[in-house]
Amino acid sequence: MTKKIAVLPGDGIGIEIVAQAVKVLECLNADFGLNAEMEQGLVGGSAYDETSSPLPEATLKLAKEADAVLLGAVGGYKWESLDISVRPEKGLLGLRSELELFANLRPAILYPQLAHASTLKPEVVSGLDIMIVRELTGGIYFGQPRGVRELENSEKQGFNTLIYKESEIERIAHVAFETAMKCDKRLCSVDKANVLECTELWREVVERVSKDYPEVELSHMYVDNAAMQLVRAPKQFDVMVTTNMFGDILSDCAAMLTGSIGMLPSASMDKNQKGMYEPIHGSAPDIAGQDIANPLATILSVAMMLRYSLGAEALAVKVEKAVDDVLNQNLRTEDIYTQGDIKVGTSAMGDAVVAALKS
Ligand code: IPM
Ligand code: MG
Repeated sequence: MTKKIAVLPGDGIGIEIVAQAVKVLECLNADFGLNAEMEQGLVGGSAYDETSSPLPEATLKLAKEADAVLLGAVGGYKWESLDISVRPEKGLLGLRSELELFANLRPAILYPQLAHASTLKPEVVSGLDIMIVRELTGGIYFGQPRGVRELENSEKQGFNTLIYKESEIERIAHVAFETAMKCDKRLCSVDKANVLECTELWREVVERVSKDYPEVELSHMYVDNAAMQLVRAPKQFDVMVTTNMFGDILSDCAAMLTGSIGMLPSASMDKNQKGMYEPIHGSAPDIAGQDIANPLATILSVAMMLRYSLGAEALAVKVEKAVDDVLNQNLRTEDIYTQGDIKVGTSAMGDAVVAALKS
């Protein structure tokens, strides 16, 4: 059966890296029996420029009708002064919320070939294999009320709301426990229960859900300590589960352990395994259009898509193996380059992955 993939490159390096992931999908179509139809849509700043909206109706329709969405990145200097309601980031957040993609899986895996590319000592990071499960459609990112108001003395006051219902915590906790069951069966829930009532409830609900998973060893950690532990002794973690904002911060931190944020894919899933797949890095406007961005996070996001939404585990493994192969060939984009490696550009890296797939 034909599967439909909505392809949304977005802005900045999103355009270049998604083009490499599309090459990979085309190769899987042509040579490995994947039957995927791809259709492109606009999102983010480029969508705003054309339609005055960062998430045009046509894009939302395309994403809703697709079996999976492949997204590059959104944002750039050009749109930073726009009103927050139409900024590129709203396109991404709108997709997450409209498609109800509440479960964000962000693996941080260190490829042994890149142990020396990490800013941490190789012995601290070698063998690292963490999965961060980030709640994606609630918390302070979406909580109401929000805004900037003027006080009586005409001073301005900004405010946002950290808010979670029990049902929202429960469903992400279930995803996290299920994920832990497939990993080392250790789950660390990250909160700030010593200060924030909302995350005190978070802890209580996660504790309650844990009763359904007696095999999983559950621990709790305050977010400040979790940030420290991630750089002190990251291998203590197996699966982590946390709120939208804490997950945003901790996943960038975890990314650096693996050598480069350019290596980390992600999957954002709804309750029916429909997902949006994107690298966790941003649009990097400073290096956009120069053919130096690392496309591997996006290509690895395609692997996650094959696994979780397209029911093609064997092809997912193939893509991951191809990425491993190009690293074994010492091919490196600038972000993961160290002396003695072979430096390649974005497009050449994409071609190398395709060649590895075919070999
Ligand atoms: C991420 C990004 C986004 C987020 C931005 C671009 C809105 O940082 O996916 O981690 O904050 O969720
Ligand atoms: Mg982020």
